[in-house]
Amino acid sequence: MIRQALAIVMLCLSLAGGSVDSLVDQTSLGGSLYLVNRTYRLTAHYQPDDLVRPEVRRLSSEIMMRREAAEKLEELFEAAAQEGLRLVAVSGYRSYETQRIIYQRKIKSTGSVAKAERLVAPPGASEHQLGLAMDIGRRSNTNLNMAFGRSREGEWVARHAHEYGFIIRYQDRWTDITGYADEPGHLRYVGVEHATVIHTMDIPLETYVEQMQQTMCGEMYANLTP
Ligand code: DAL
Ligand code: ZN
Repeated sequence: MIRQALAIVMLCLSLAGGSVDSLVDQTSLGGSLYLVNRTYRLTAHYQPDDLVRPEVRRLSSEIMMRREAAEKLEELFEAAAQEGLRLVAVSGYRSYETQRIIYQRKIKSTGSVAKAERLVAPPGASEHQLGLAMDIGRRSNTNLNMAFGRSREGEWVARHAHEYGFIIRYQDRWTDITGYADEPGHLRYVGVEHATVIHTMDIPLETYVEQMQQTMCGEMYANLTP
């Protein structure tokens, strides 16, 4: 509780120079806090204009993400390498059309829309279209499954991703809120300040953005104090 309150105070101080306007910027398509899910969807035409190829080990040379996120991903991979952990980028930016194909394939392979929808977002509802998500795996096993979460690499990423501005977006205990099963390798970039608070509060992005938008800092803090 104290750690959570402290994290919120730190965030409020960092936002203090700004205003609601700065929060709006961060939750707009230009910012890094933008919420995309089945409720809040992107149009078929949305494509970020600053996509780059992160200089990290990656499954395909075509893997891209937005510039700021790519730079922080490089730092994250480098820090992991210092610990002897070899990460690999598996899937980054996806166009609406690519997401549609992946979604349709998943419906076929699982034989059920409901099962597919716990694993893959419908087109327009994926953070991958934002250019702020990256699926990562281990060098020796790029399967995006639970095994990554239990590996040394996955455990290290879960502890340190926020230091580089990333959150582990989909976790089993949040399925009721996010709609998705555990995805320990799906990293979402929100920036270091937000990621640190989200990590400390241990809440899904939906809850965080909702609290930020509805109450701003004062009430968030009040909710945490007895
Ligand atoms: N696997 C995540 C939910 C996506 O398709 O965006
Ligand atoms: Zn993903």
